[in-house]
Amino acid sequence: MKFFIDTADLNEIKEAASLGILDGVTTNPSLMAKIGITGAENIKQHYIDICNIVDGDISAEVISTDFEGMVREAKELVALHPNIVVKIPMIKDGVKALKWCTDNNIRTNCTLVFSAGQAILAAKAGATYLSPFIGRLDDINWDGVQLIEQIVHIYRNYGYETQVLAASIRNPLHIIRCAEVGADVVTCPLSSIMGLFKHPLTDIGLAQFLADYKKGNG
Ligand code: G3P
Repeated sequence: MKFFIDTADLNEIKEAASLGILDGVTTNPSLMAKIGITGAENIKQHYIDICNIVDGDISAEVISTDFEGMVREAKELVALHPNIVVKIPMIKDGVKALKWCTDNNIRTNCTLVFSAGQAILAAKAGATYLSPFIGRLDDINWDGVQLIEQIVHIYRNYGYETQVLAASIRNPLHIIRCAEVGADVVTCPLSSIMGLFKHPLTDIGLAQFLADYKKGNG
């Protein structure tokens, strides 16, 4: 399972990258706005800065909602760096744009996915990645991880190559459950990645080892 970080914050990206286990980065317009990156040129430069930190797939999202606009933006975004993956929303023109990108060798991440039906459409259009938002489903009392399991099952039935990228991860348990049901990728906030380290017995055991070493070695 690939690990992506879901942030536009360069310090968080550097911290996750320093662990040596980071495979990529996803961003979205909300995450860009959260850290005060505004204006088309600044946003493009920020994508380049991210690409210079992480040698992996970096999702950059279009803001157009019409086919022509999405295709124009896709061309501009992939020209920034070879690792850019164009993030396209799950709407009708988005599916058309996904197919255009597939036919023109541009890698894509279909975002804002909340159902298996949408997942089938994106796979048929040849999306590279599919981003179901599991936390937002949990927020409305649907089971987000169950959707990941359903989509993984459907994709395996037909050998679709689209990779299931679980997004809207909110905690470490989401990551573990996504791994159990076969997600190809998880994109997580730094806090969820760091949460995977935590176990009280590790802390107690390490403290004991160090105390015993000190007793014997001064
Ligand atoms: O990148 C999209 C997704 O991960 C958003 O997460 O927490 O805003 O639902 P969240």
